[in-house]
Amino acid sequence: MKEKQITISCQVFESMEQLDARDRALCEAAMEARKSSYAPYSGFNVGAAVLLEGGITVKGSNQENAAFPSSLCAERTAMYSASVNYPGKAMLGIAIVGGKAMSITDKPVTPCGACRQVMAEYEKRSGVHMSILLIGRDEVWKFSRVEDLLPYIFDSI
Ligand code: THU
Repeated sequence: MKEKQITISCQVFESMEQLDARDRALCEAAMEARKSSYAPYSGFNVGAAVLLEGGITVKGSNQENAAFPSSLCAERTAMYSASVNYPGKAMLGIAIVGGKAMSITDKPVTPCGACRQVMAEYEKRSGVHMSILLIGRDEVWKFSRVEDLLPYIFDSI
């Protein structure tokens, strides 16, 4: 028997202002995207923005439905929209913001497992790392690749 260990690295910023211009713009796009959130059931509004190679930004927000499982997270609306409208373009980064009634959570919002799996597959498909910016009121976290959020993705099929 041998034991495997994984090291996960994440940069912690005190605010969005500490980010470089590219990352700050992506965070602002996520905040803008959140205005289209439709969350009458949870009251939790989420916005996401994906930066594509070539500099295009694609926005997404959570979209809920009275048939609850039909709802979709902000991250996946953004990534699926990017994949449909800009096929083959690598996703270089994604920024995420969320909170109740359009507020911003104190701690950064961390994406659900399903969204992490989708991020991981697009990252693998393009062969380019996707950075993840998680926005909170107290801190902004930056992961430089999806593997740091979801090791051992399902890709056995
Ligand atoms: N939500 C997201 O949009 N992204 C996540 O990563 C987690 C949760 C949404 C789904 C639902 O509309 C609301 O937040 C509450 O779970």
